[in-house]
Amino acid sequence: MADGNSETKTSNQMWGGRFASGPDAIMEEINASIGFDKKLYAQDIRGSIAHATMLAHQGIISAEDKDKIVHGLNTILSEIESGQFEFSRRLEDIHMNIEARLATLIGPAAGRLHTARSRNDQVALDFRLWVKEELQRTEKALTGLIAAFLDRAEEHAETVMPGFTHLQTAQPVTFGHHCMAYVEMFGRDRSRVRHAIEHMDESPIGAAALAGTGFPIDRHMTASALGFAGPTRNSIDTVSDRDFALEFLSIAAIAATHMSRLAEEIVIWSTPQFGFIRLSDAFSTGSSIMPQKKNPDAAELVRAKTGRINGSLIALLTVMKGLPLAYSKDMQEDKEQVFDAAESLELAVAAMTGMVRDMTIRADRMKAAAGSGYSTATDLADWLVREAGLPFRDAHHVTGRAVALAEQKACDLADLSLEDLQSIHPSITAKVFDVLTVEASVASRTSFGGTAPNEVRKQIAWWRARN
Ligand code: ARG
Repeated sequence: MADGNSETKTSNQMWGGRFASGPDAIMEEINASIGFDKKLYAQDIRGSIAHATMLAHQGIISAEDKDKIVHGLNTILSEIESGQFEFSRRLEDIHMNIEARLATLIGPAAGRLHTARSRNDQVALDFRLWVKEELQRTEKALTGLIAAFLDRAEEHAETVMPGFTHLQTAQPVTFGHHCMAYVEMFGRDRSRVRHAIEHMDESPIGAAALAGTGFPIDRHMTASALGFAGPTRNSIDTVSDRDFALEFLSIAAIAATHMSRLAEEIVIWSTPQFGFIRLSDAFSTGSSIMPQKKNPDAAELVRAKTGRINGSLIALLTVMKGLPLAYSKDMQEDKEQVFDAAESLELAVAAMTGMVRDMTIRADRMKAAAGSGYSTATDLADWLVREAGLPFRDAHHVTGRAVALAEQKACDLADLSLEDLQSIHPSITAKVFDVLTVEASVASRTSFGGTAPNEVRKQIAWWRARN
């Protein structure tokens, strides 16, 4: 752990005896980030190569030293990737682990790499590059999830199911339309991802500790070498800012919330009582005691991971909220939250994509449920407005009486006789039965964005052109 610093031991009479190897063991433990920031090795090396190349181009270091540095860094990259690199906690973090190894490999030239930079702008760069790449992965993953929904929506553009409000049967809709609601949600998530990429597309390197540097560096050169649109404009903000991480976490939290709602629907739909879907064996588990069971564990875990992702957002907001400008070591706590949320999000999107693609839609069960619960009552009211000229409020009242009568007779609205209906309102004719079926109901909702199959197909086409 520590190097048995006797000076520290004697200098602290208060608690020195409690720590066999001296209090610096605890200091090392609380201070070190290598356990998690080693994930940034590739970004750190890329950043250092760009920085060294720029330093040489500007005549700040020699071309010879630059070549040694770049060669050494590439060696380190392959050492890490082949599992040969020994990370040391004594060297605190990924930046110092790599720099120390570079010194061993190439000697004094290694010491020139850190000219005109600080770990403050270095970590801001590494982490930003990582988050940017993660956002690009998220964009792809969401595109896959959207594609899965588009396919199911197309397949089920005409499949009728009950639409719910308050989880009470409201009006018939199509399963395709319901799928397309998720396409809208994940589509918004994806556009938030794209905006965030644009937003954070500025290079921090060269801000140095906080004030910039007196060396004649070219921040535009490093920015473009690293694929950024340009350099950040304020060196103090640059080393203080973790908005890119907070934006990632906010986007992740909203997307996870969407997935959690979907997970909840999958859990409900797959119960024997609803029976709207059957999960594939690949995305469900059995019970060790009840042989009949098929549990939606993947959906439940996605629902639960939302708590974790939301927790990460709150954790980082809380870390940042009291920090004076510029850098404080508190900010080292940014990475684990983002790494954990990213892993959870990736897994959740992948599991959801699999479930959506694999689940069996039980159209017969959906249709039976769509017709129950007087789901076409609004259609009857609309018919009375259209065909009998009633004001909507009166039509609503008349329909309410028809529902009460059907309830009394324990039948559906469509099963009431014409005489029954006419006893409630004399202007009702046999034509009313055309709108009382669930198919007629959904086909009639042709307003833009409505549930009519042709309308849903238009929305599918709109999204296909953009996916
Ligand atoms: N490991 C540190 C972090 O993740 C790197 C920056 C250290 N900067 C400093 N001034 N001590 O934030």
